[in-house]
Amino acid sequence: MTTTAARHVGVIGLAVMGENLALNIERNGFPIAVYNRTWERTEEFINGRASGLNVAAGKTLPEFVALLERPRRIIIMVKAGAPVDAVIAELIPLLQEGDMIIDGGNSLFIDSERRSKEVEAANLHFVGMGISGGEEGALWGPSLMPGGPKQAYILLEPMLQAIAAKAEDGEPCVTHIGPGGSGHYVKMIHNGIEYGDMQLIAESYDVMRHALGMTAPQIAAVFAEWNKGPLASYLIEITAEVLAYTDPETGAPLVDLILDTAEQKGTGRWTSQNALELGSPIPTIDAAVFARTMSSMKERRVAASQALKGPNPEDIAAMTSRIDPPRLLGYLERGLLFAKISSYAQGMALLRAASDSYNWGLDLAEIARIWRAGCIIRAELLEPIRAAFGAQPDLENLLLSIGFLDIVNEGAGACRSVVTLARSIGVPVPAHSASLDYFDSYRTAALPANLTQGQRDYFGAHTYRRIDKPGIFHTEWNAEPAS
Ligand code: 6PG
Repeated sequence: MTTTAARHVGVIGLAVMGENLALNIERNGFPIAVYNRTWERTEEFINGRASGLNVAAGKTLPEFVALLERPRRIIIMVKAGAPVDAVIAELIPLLQEGDMIIDGGNSLFIDSERRSKEVEAANLHFVGMGISGGEEGALWGPSLMPGGPKQAYILLEPMLQAIAAKAEDGEPCVTHIGPGGSGHYVKMIHNGIEYGDMQLIAESYDVMRHALGMTAPQIAAVFAEWNKGPLASYLIEITAEVLAYTDPETGAPLVDLILDTAEQKGTGRWTSQNALELGSPIPTIDAAVFARTMSSMKERRVAASQALKGPNPEDIAAMTSRIDPPRLLGYLERGLLFAKISSYAQGMALLRAASDSYNWGLDLAEIARIWRAGCIIRAELLEPIRAAFGAQPDLENLLLSIGFLDIVNEGAGACRSVVTLARSIGVPVPAHSASLDYFDSYRTAALPANLTQGQRDYFGAHTYRRIDKPGIFHTEWNAEPAS
């Protein structure tokens, strides 16, 4: 440990994400200072993982702040919510004009909007920075989504570019997202998309085991194969590894021993809540959020499984005996790709809606670019998505991009086959269904909302418009017809 030269950047909070980010920064040649609420934790870090490295530590917050060069760059890596406010409140009186507070947690973007106003009012800068890639990403190269004043971003850029993941073309996975809470907003959408991807993958797995009776290692081999094609992505790669893992205690596939209740910390739910608020449909992500909720009702599901009936077992057996496995696996692969593209189209459309609503000027091509590596949703698919928005910055919906038209028009058929089969054998595929319904609704020129309008006008005189003449109309629906 050395404490001589002024430190380029400081990290507050030495839980695993904070520690790993600090080590990443140090490895990339930026002198760093760290601070943790408890000195024991700090000591453990500097005498342990940071021993021999160029890391200085402050015992108190004023001591830590004094270690930093001006303008100060301070990254907060504490639990989202009240702890972030507490640290900011303690920091403000210790800082000077132009210093920067960067929140690297999974904060709700509305909190970041508020904090940016509070911090800017003290003549300091606030940057709400989404960080994706988990522990490994923080250490070796995350995808970074910083939002806040451009002048603060410029001062942070060399360090952020150095520590960020690099895509295949060598581009660092960081960009200035926009003002205020936009960085955390984009991270929230990333997580919503992550929920959608994970649920879609889980459904493919479920269809394979129920329709084809495949074992976990057999399914692992299918995902490993898919990872060589257009579905290639981090999540498909780890899915193959999770499915192939043998429990050392029992010799059984570990996945078969894991309780089927998925937890959630809230970012997926926030995405759905915001989509409802902005009126921008994201049914695949909604389905994924509720699938987790449904999974958590384990006891109720076990009880209901005794009372509620699925399709007749003989019918299921007859149906599954007629399946040609390679054919179904082909449908599943192309259906998953289609469902994923539909989900990304929803997520990108929500980003556009938020950008318009909050006046953020988001660059969707740039956002797709920085998701190509480092983050949890990194995937081959993100390069064509980047290219689509790069070529057509005002592209209204990804489904309509020239580069995607053939893939989605063909893939919809595969997804339809998967959903139809799953329904017939009683396997729930809510995210696949939602992706397909989004596509079918979006491509339908005349939806049945004419009837909905008729009903609204009937019971509430809410009026309606007609297709054959302009104007607003109301009808006395239950009046005696004139004779
Ligand atoms: C990431 C992850 C990360 C975290 C999620 C998990 O981008 O690195 O998204 O942020 O793993 O918060 O969220 P849930 O606990 O809600 O699944």
